[in-house]
Amino acid sequence: MVSKSIFKKIAIFGTFLAIVTNIYTATYPSVHPSKCSWKCTQNDDDIAVDLLSSWEKVVYYSKRYLFDVKEQLLPGKPDEETTKNDDPADIHLMAFGDPQIKGIFSNTPYITRLDIFGNDFFLGHIASTMRRRLHPSHIAVMGDLFSSQWIGDSEFYNRTSRYMSRIFGRDISSLEQIKSEHHDKDGQYQVDWESWGKKLDKIRATEKPWDLGFHHENVYSWDPQNEDSLFINITGNHDIGYSGDVTYQHLSRFHELFGSDNYWIEYDTDTDHPWRIVVLDSLLLEGPGLQNEFIDVTWEFLYQLFERRFKGSTVLLTHVPLYKEEGICSDGPETRFYPEVYEPEPYKSKLLRSHNHLSEEVTKRVLNLIFDNNKPGIILTGHDHVGCETYYNKNSTSGDWKASKKIESPGELLSVQEITVKAMMGEFHGNTGLVTGHFNKKTGLWEWYFSLCPFTIQHVWWISKVSALLTGLLWSIYILL
Ligand SMILES: *[C@@H]1O[C@H](CO)[C@@H](O)[C@H](O)[C@H]1NC(C)=O
Ligand SMILES: *[C@@H]1O[C@H](CO)[C@@H](O)[C@H](O)[C@H]1NC(C)=O
Repeated sequence: MVSKSIFKKIAIFGTFLAIVTNIYTATYPSVHPSKCSWKCTQNDDDIAVDLLSSWEKVVYYSKRYLFDVKEQLLPGKPDEETTKNDDPADIHLMAFGDPQIKGIFSNTPYITRLDIFGNDFFLGHIASTMRRRLHPSHIAVMGDLFSSQWIGDSEFYNRTSRYMSRIFGRDISSLEQIKSEHHDKDGQYQVDWESWGKKLDKIRATEKPWDLGFHHENVYSWDPQNEDSLFINITGNHDIGYSGDVTYQHLSRFHELFGSDNYWIEYDTDTDHPWRIVVLDSLLLEGPGLQNEFIDVTWEFLYQLFERRFKGSTVLLTHVPLYKEEGICSDGPETRFYPEVYEPEPYKSKLLRSHNHLSEEVTKRVLNLIFDNNKPGIILTGHDHVGCETYYNKNSTSGDWKASKKIESPGELLSVQEITVKAMMGEFHGNTGLVTGHFNKKTGLWEWYFSLCPFTIQHVWWISKVSALLTGLLWSIYILL
């Protein structure tokens, strides 16, 4: 029977495809073992691969891949003990750029719905694979968690719930608790922005420094009973809007579901190796804004931070990249304002509509307020999706900062690297950013390293799922034929 033999061939091909794509998706970090590991735990002795013949390359990469897969399957190597005893332990921060999850509305076509549904699990696969492999101490999502700031409270809640459960595998009972306390007459989440605003007004009516809860110390988990890493959410323009758009509703619901937009956490301040994380809401640094009081709050945050006179190293996490000239990264500087006459929303006349970078002036002030102690640090941003690495070089005589592709060493007081983390979205190949902080006892300084671990376009993940399903179906039919 011809048809049956053809059928069998298709089924065999399908099986092969399913096996290969599923093994690949399950073990993808092993394809790039050093890019997908913390610095110092993996031998980076990449030999001069370019000099090898094609066949030798195949052998080299296969061996490297198989070795890494084996390491993952048989963990608990004795030398892990020694790294654990290292004092202080390395800092392992995992950063995800701009997931931008989309929403489903009543007019969304079914194919798009399926795509959005699958995309949540594609992102979830990346997050869970990388966490299982690397056990980060900190996880940061670089803003633009969602794809639009123009959504209602109920949709904002629904996406938060998908973000938490499908992508990051987190418990959503606290979220459900919030909804049970703050809902409309149909039981859908509704933020009480008026009381939130009143609380803020009350604080703003007091003398500075305002008590806005910016300070944290030695926090390694918000929920130590259930989690052994610290989860950090960062505001993006798609989560709260640019300053010309941000309303009380936008900001209060972010605060309620994702936590504060500005805070710092200081670690090990009484040791020889203090360091800190600074989470900065870069959307609310410049205007003209719709609610300029929010911008006041962010500057108040930076002044309080500066007043700490902190002695250690800083990891700055924020969404909008700092100012740099055209040509250094994919995005050049661009700032747009609403026109003077803006019919759809007249009250937005001339307000800040969007920006690719912070302005040059604001960038300088931010760097001087945060990196004033001349200790090394690292800046992680999101926003441009393509990714970029830049150095901010501080001139020792003028105190000015200049962005450049490289460390401009002679005469420079300090160079701080800014990493614009390439997006986690499938179109950008599902990346995970890995920051390793290592304390160098000889110099008495923290050293910071970054690497980017790519996955692949979402279609490969889809093929792995669909081919597995189809193959199962094909063999069942074959048996029946
Ligand atoms: C959010 O999810 C709930 C429960 O599934 C649903 O009833 C509601 O309509 C959703 N909200 C929006 C805006 O789609
Ligand atoms: C960040 O967001 C997640 C998901 O909503 C939440 O569980 C977590 O508590 C948030 N972080 C903070 C500091 O509130």
